[in-house]
Amino acid sequence: MKTIVIGARGGIGSAFVSALTARGTPPIALSRPELDLIDEASIAASAERCGDDIDLIIDATGFLHGDGMMPERSWKQLDSAHLARNFVINAIGPALLMKHFLPRLARDRRAVFATLSARVGSITDNNLGGWYGYRAAKAALNQIVRTASIELRRQSKQSICVALHPGTVSTDLSAPFSKSGLDVRDPAIAAERMLVVIDALTPAQSGLLIDHHGLVIPF
Ligand SMILES: NC(=O)c1ccc[n+]([C@@H]2O[C@H](COP(=O)([O-])OP(=O)(O)OC[C@H]3O[C@@H](n4cnc5c(N)ncnc54)[C@H](OP(=O)(O)O)[C@@H]3O)[C@@H](O)[C@H]2O)c1
Repeated sequence: MKTIVIGARGGIGSAFVSALTARGTPPIALSRPELDLIDEASIAASAERCGDDIDLIIDATGFLHGDGMMPERSWKQLDSAHLARNFVINAIGPALLMKHFLPRLARDRRAVFATLSARVGSITDNNLGGWYGYRAAKAALNQIVRTASIELRRQSKQSICVALHPGTVSTDLSAPFSKSGLDVRDPAIAAERMLVVIDALTPAQSGLLIDHHGLVIPF
């Protein structure tokens, strides 16, 4: 079984690498600088290195804060460089991963491409406001997943492309926001739960946003 984890050094990505290794299906682990979402040539070269006939690809890359940028609490904080960074890392980068990796999924058996999105990317679920760039970029990612899932069906009826919500997981990305009282999960537990969800996915669920319990989150 050929498995790949992209963003393999991140909090959740590294937990996926450990969990897949413990299952006896150690992944090809891809991260910067070999694969950088802002450099399409590096994505193409990484996909080439992985080859064809892939069973499972997990994209655990993402951006919420860093380099002085924090999620916006008001429209007053909207900033074009911050919005652009959100879209480049959370939507455009994963779209380019799909461009180069989806054609490499196995075609003669069930195969899965799962990208980590977020519940806050659900427009239906947005009752709190704030986090304009992250929310909008994850909503765009969810739309890209849906669109790719329709094209992927033409490649193989057994292939699945989904967006996963991992829950709140204790990583650098969530650290500034994980207040006490919030249900924050260890990355190892989150990765194990999501692998159970991935195991149970059917082609009929391709194109959906699914949480770590296996429940569909409305767009
Ligand atoms: N943690 C949570 O509570 C939570 C909740 C909902 C959704 N999510 C989603 O889950 C995913 C993983 O989050 P995490 O908590 O594991 O965050 P993390 O620890 O900050 O990991 C983020 C990963 O993204 C990679 N990355 C960032 N920019 C990149 C680029 N230009 N090219 C290639 N890789 C890049 C990082 O690579 P480097 O190691 O090279 O920096 C790192 O591996 C994200 O999509 C996030 O939105 C997380």
